[in-house]
Amino acid sequence: MFLVFPDSAAIAAHLSAHLQNIIRQEPNATLGLATGGTMEPVYARFVQDVRASGLDVSGINSFNLDEYVGLSAQHEQSYAYYMQQHLFSQLPFDPARLHLPNGLTTELEQHCKAYSAAIAASGGVALQLLGVGTNGHIGFNEPGTPFDSLTHVVALSERTRLDNSRFFDAMDEVPASAITMGIADILSAREIALVVTGEHKARTMLNYQDGGITPDLPFTALKQHANVQILLDEAAASLLDPSLCQRPVISYAA
Ligand code: F6R
Repeated sequence: MFLVFPDSAAIAAHLSAHLQNIIRQEPNATLGLATGGTMEPVYARFVQDVRASGLDVSGINSFNLDEYVGLSAQHEQSYAYYMQQHLFSQLPFDPARLHLPNGLTTELEQHCKAYSAAIAASGGVALQLLGVGTNGHIGFNEPGTPFDSLTHVVALSERTRLDNSRFFDAMDEVPASAITMGIADILSAREIALVVTGEHKARTMLNYQDGGITPDLPFTALKQHANVQILLDEAAASLLDPSLCQRPVISYAA
């Protein structure tokens, strides 16, 4: 079942309320976080709501999905920089509890192993936030990635580099590889919220609806998970079978 909202602001309000409920129930919860354009309204709304409510976020642990290899946390296109800008610097989090893969590590293999182990050691992810690429990638798990993969280094596909080049001055500045949580790490979360917005993702969602479970479209791995919410705006849902789309009654101020 797909949950269809009027727009990305309504999705953000819904998810912000959900995140706050989780934190109220479990102040030391571990969250799995994503970057990208899709998540910007979600973090903006969460920051606004938590500032208004005064909810304590200092016990929250977080693990980000991915980071570019070769970019420092000070690089404006690194995911560490993105997280600082949109979330971490906006609320009184405990920086020691906030984790991203280190794009500058020289011990890539060891770092990846330790990252997956740290997620498990934190007690596991209570809620994993996910976006999806137009080619179906989650994190940077590109088509063909095995579903049993743990944190690993990936060469980015030309499609993904092209999609992300809008954030860089030139195509040749887009990194060629990244560290990403694996699909098995993602599936180990107790709950997953996949957010899909924009007309350019409509065909990707149609392929998800109509296709089977296949590494050719990595996010079809989510069909194997028992607790996934797929939250779409009208544009991303425009090609889906209406009988599979639910439109939740919105009970919060937009
Ligand atoms: C980002 C990530 C990626 C994005 C995906 C969609 O941490 O893991 O999988 O979620 O590329 O990106 P946007 O939201 O920019 O369309």
